[in-house]
Amino acid sequence: MFPNGFLWGAAVAANQCEGAWNIGGKKESICDHLTAGSLHKNRRFTSEILADEKYPSHEAVDFYHHYQQDIALLAEMGCKVFRLSIAWSRIFPNGDDETPSEEGLRFYDNVFDECRRYHMEPLVTLSHFEIPHNLVKRYGGFANREVITFFERYAKTVLERYKDKVKYWLTFNEINFGTMPMGNLEVLGIINQEEEEIANPLDDMQLRFQALHHVFLASARAVKAAHEINPDFKVGCMIAHITMYPLTCRPEDLLLQQELDQIINNFCADVQVRGAYPYFAFNYFQKHDLQILFEREDQQILKEGCVDFYSFSYYMSNCVTTEEGHETTMGNLLGGVKNPYLKASEWGWQVDPKGIRYTLNKIYDRYGIPMFVVENGLGAVDEIDGSGEIQDDYRIAYLKEHILEMGRALEDQVDLMGYTVWSAMDLVSSGTGEMKKRYGLIHVDKDDTGNGTLKRTRKKSFYWYRKVIETNGEDLE
Ligand code: BG6
Repeated sequence: MFPNGFLWGAAVAANQCEGAWNIGGKKESICDHLTAGSLHKNRRFTSEILADEKYPSHEAVDFYHHYQQDIALLAEMGCKVFRLSIAWSRIFPNGDDETPSEEGLRFYDNVFDECRRYHMEPLVTLSHFEIPHNLVKRYGGFANREVITFFERYAKTVLERYKDKVKYWLTFNEINFGTMPMGNLEVLGIINQEEEEIANPLDDMQLRFQALHHVFLASARAVKAAHEINPDFKVGCMIAHITMYPLTCRPEDLLLQQELDQIINNFCADVQVRGAYPYFAFNYFQKHDLQILFEREDQQILKEGCVDFYSFSYYMSNCVTTEEGHETTMGNLLGGVKNPYLKASEWGWQVDPKGIRYTLNKIYDRYGIPMFVVENGLGAVDEIDGSGEIQDDYRIAYLKEHILEMGRALEDQVDLMGYTVWSAMDLVSSGTGEMKKRYGLIHVDKDDTGNGTLKRTRKKSFYWYRKVIETNGEDLE
């Protein structure tokens, strides 16, 4: 079912695991200004670091000092690939510095060397919600065209430095988040108020779509540079695929589903894979009275920066309808209407394994290029039992069903390169800032109050996944 050389692995992001937020020359990224929250309490951005607030990224699970142990555990699991991100502000602490921080560069040298020692391919995201805070404060984030140059400088620096250590790259994590108000802060680096809730920001749509245009250009420039620096590099886009179904077979519901799917899922990928804006984007801009400023060279830049593969996160699906009054549910970045045929996780994300087969076919049908599932997993409360073990059978069941459906998609003849479970070890939840919402195959002893020894413990899913990898997806029991 799974081809030889299939890239099995696990994933993390710097801001959710590294900690060491002000160590080793690093300065603040935007995430270091996000407070802790919960399912019922939104995370807030504060323009200053407040003494009486908790900022979960500051220590996170201290991967910075535990990377050797963590990578050894991933190797023990048999991972062929480890997806992680580089914290931009560890390399260019202010974002606009002329020269990079050698100490920051050395940290990732060590991390990648450690991966190589175990023959594990790093899959590196250049920007996973980690814009240096100074670029947000001083320049207004990607709303300012100048920030493209700073990103390009950062991208070229790391692509050059790690050209013999890293082969697989992603430019912007969940770039399509920028099509929604929630993406202002984390993808685009736009803050319209001194203090705001990330789920509920003051949104200037015109500014947001202009900033997104700049992010497309930044991504395209990085892709072009990557291909020049090492023609063997494979660079992907990264889309949060929000799979949506019409709630009913009323044509109105289908049309709404199509419209949302176009702008939320297809718009960014069309630009990054095909190198041009799709027709429906212009229609959307007109409808919302948006004027996106294109400079003369922009079309050419986009054309020259097409990605080699399509990567995406897939956690859940939801329904849409034009009818009012239906029960709603939560989801990754975006909630929706409840699907009566699906069950949801404790955080209200609807579990839909068949949806991953549908989604893989849908994407392959549209783009026909290799795909990579770079995030899929279950956020749940894990308890340590009397014998010190974590019996996370619910996570195993979730992963098993999704892997089975990926296998079916492979039988449908889609081209899938690999799969990285979210997440390798427990880490800070991006949406809620909690530790309690655990995704890891490896448990980390740390709670929401910040207490814990940071000790790593293999969960039951760790042993299960090891067998999955060992048998190349044949044994899922
Ligand atoms: C994706 C992000 O949105 O989903 C990750 O790329 C994130 O950073 C993951 O952690 C799960 O979301 P959450 O909010 O449960 O952490």
